[in-house]
Amino acid sequence: MSGRFARKSVVITGAGSGIGRAVAHLFASEGAHVIAFDRNESVHETAAAHDSIHAVIGDAGSEADVAAMIACATERHGGIDILCANAGISGGMAGLFDQAASDWEAVLRVNLIGAFLAIRFGARAMLDAQRPGAIICTASVAGLRAGAGGPAYSASKAGVVNLVQTAAQQLSGTGIRINAVCPGLIETGMTGALFDSARAKGREDMIGQLNPLRRGGESCEIARAIAFLASDEASYVNGHALVVDGGLSSSLPFAKPRALGESSF
Ligand SMILES: NC(=O)c1ccc[n+]([C@@H]2O[C@H](COP(=O)([O-])OP(=O)(O)OC[C@H]3O[C@@H](n4cnc5c(N)ncnc54)[C@H](O)[C@@H]3O)[C@@H](O)[C@H]2O)c1
Repeated sequence: MSGRFARKSVVITGAGSGIGRAVAHLFASEGAHVIAFDRNESVHETAAAHDSIHAVIGDAGSEADVAAMIACATERHGGIDILCANAGISGGMAGLFDQAASDWEAVLRVNLIGAFLAIRFGARAMLDAQRPGAIICTASVAGLRAGAGGPAYSASKAGVVNLVQTAAQQLSGTGIRINAVCPGLIETGMTGALFDSARAKGREDMIGQLNPLRRGGESCEIARAIAFLASDEASYVNGHALVVDGGLSSSLPFAKPRALGESSF
């Protein structure tokens, strides 16, 4: 198989839907052997699209499940070259006074501890096989600024950004690169209700209006950024959080500027 990721061994968590599914398909279409991991049976649909994708069911927040998934990848493909810690849940948009500690525990368990477990077991496997590769964690613009998610979700994603920076330091000298991608508003299972509701009201034009590109993003646009970070083209990119949000997080609160040539009335 030829392609940018020919014969690379790739592991993706949260590959049953949305961004993770797009990432699995992109890597497979460019020659990789992919382990697609998700707690949902929908991961079998992800795998059905390519012979080179193998589905594994499990919980990204479970130490035993993540260890087993990494062992499966190592056994099938002799090691791991690329690891995408992508599984996540939103935990809803309830505010500070409406969230309980148990809500926080549920969100942090998947989004932050899940990323930690994937890094821990994945990096160990890379080192044991003497195949230092690339790790990419899906964080969020919600982890960089307020206003894009609930308190627990936002804190979990800020944690992912720092975890990536800390892990880059801890993996110093190993040759393993680790980066985060910070998507803006992307149409996926997580945000589908928002997009559906806007469409049902005939207000699709309102989606993504806070960013300068004035549209929501697609999973494939995040998958391409993740593939870049995984590729040799990013060989000197390490400990970085790459924002892919149409420019959403680039500005202070603003009054929507008129496009050139647009009437002021
Ligand atoms: N969609 C957005 O606008 C957006 C923006 C910023 C960041 N993100 C992040 O992107 C990542 C992917 O989310 P998405 O938008 O594709 O949503 P999604 O709901 O379509 O996909 C998330 C996948 O993760 C899986 N998952 C959830 N908990 C799991 C667990 N404990 N173990 C295994 N799998 C689990 C789900 O079953 C699902 O298949 C998440 O980390 C999310 O926080 C999404």
